[in-house]
Amino acid sequence: MDLQLTEEQHMIQQAARDFASSEIAPVAAKHDISGEFPLANIKAMGELGLMGIEVPEQYGGAGMDAVAYVLAMIEIAAADAAHSTIMSVNNTLYCNGIMQYGSEDQKQKFVRPVASGEAIAAYALTESQSGSDASNMRSTAKKTADGKHYVINAKKSWITSGPEARYLVLFAKTDADAGAKGISAFIIDTSVEGFSCGKTEPKLGIRASATCEIELSDYHCPADCLLGKEGAGFKIAMSVLDAGRIGIAAQAVGIARAAYEASLEYVRERQAFGREIGSFQMIQAKIADMKTKLEAARLLTLNAALKKIESQSNGVRFTVEGSMAKLFASEAAMWITHQAVQIHGGMGYSKEMPIERYFRDAKITEIYEGTSEIQRLVIARMETGLR
Ligand code: CAA
Repeated sequence: MDLQLTEEQHMIQQAARDFASSEIAPVAAKHDISGEFPLANIKAMGELGLMGIEVPEQYGGAGMDAVAYVLAMIEIAAADAAHSTIMSVNNTLYCNGIMQYGSEDQKQKFVRPVASGEAIAAYALTESQSGSDASNMRSTAKKTADGKHYVINAKKSWITSGPEARYLVLFAKTDADAGAKGISAFIIDTSVEGFSCGKTEPKLGIRASATCEIELSDYHCPADCLLGKEGAGFKIAMSVLDAGRIGIAAQAVGIARAAYEASLEYVRERQAFGREIGSFQMIQAKIADMKTKLEAARLLTLNAALKKIESQSNGVRFTVEGSMAKLFASEAAMWITHQAVQIHGGMGYSKEMPIERYFRDAKITEIYEGTSEIQRLVIARMETGLR
């Protein structure tokens, strides 16, 4: 694995780090408590190129690669996981999917506003009865007799950025009897009649990334907003998630790094029994294991990003690398943030420090974009060839 960063990758990492420390870190706790969506920051991040890092400049993005995306995600997530959640959906689940499967018109019309930070996007796959079992959806899309529209009736749950999204990629059944092969993908403009948002979820963590149910009732979607071919929707959903999972791995690395760095500082300063607590072997063991897991998670995540870059020329899927990165990094983040709370003792449990927020935020990385159980299933199925 060649880990020499290019000048461009250094630049975006530095730009993300600077923005995170000057604009995000100072407001992260406030947004966590209020749950207010950080719209102004997201727009400003778009202007910096952080909302479409891998999108070519001609479509409003930064024209960089997956490693650049991972580096920037780590910096943003280290300051606030909720900001990085919004960033990940805009970048990978939305822009990446349309760049990969969209027509020229779709790229021009629907990618540019999101990549440039003017508009927020979402990804609507999950339904109340189908989370892990993603193809088991009830939402339908029926083509009108004149072929100009699809009439969509859909109820989707847990839609990240749903209350703020102007556009989303939505999956619905165009053929009820064809299982996964009967699912198609659509680009939805939420300002069109027939679209509405339902209840907003009160969440444990990433509280400033608004999450809600959405409903489409006899929503008339223009036929040219079909993304890819009819019936190709499930494969589009899965391959987009391959990329999305690298972003969640990077988010987990960012949260874990913040918790680790805070712990390192604390154990050097905090005194007990007349010594810095960092000189006690039980604390030293924690620090050593936190650092090792953090570094392993970072390397697996960068490795997955490199495989994604390679796949553009060799066409080889990076499904296993993406799942391994997400599985390991999310579980490492949960473990590291848990240790960070323990090291900080009462201060780790207090809202006066960000440690308890890191702990709450880390949990979602083991759940969304495929649970740890689903990542294990994906890896094992691909490795063994058995189901
Ligand atoms: N790339 C391309 N094609 C893929 C693919 C991939 N990564 N994964 C599967 N496929 C293809 C298969 O090859 C198969 O095609 P054929 O029939 O032609 O062989 C087809 O898709 C169906 O695949 P499976 O039979 O493996 O499908 P399955 O029903 O057994 O499900 C699963 C597989 C891995 C469990 C899948 O349902 C899954 O990943 N579930 C988790 C869903 C998930 O991650 N949801 C997250 C929601 S989004 C979110 O969380 C966003 C947010 O909030 C920020």
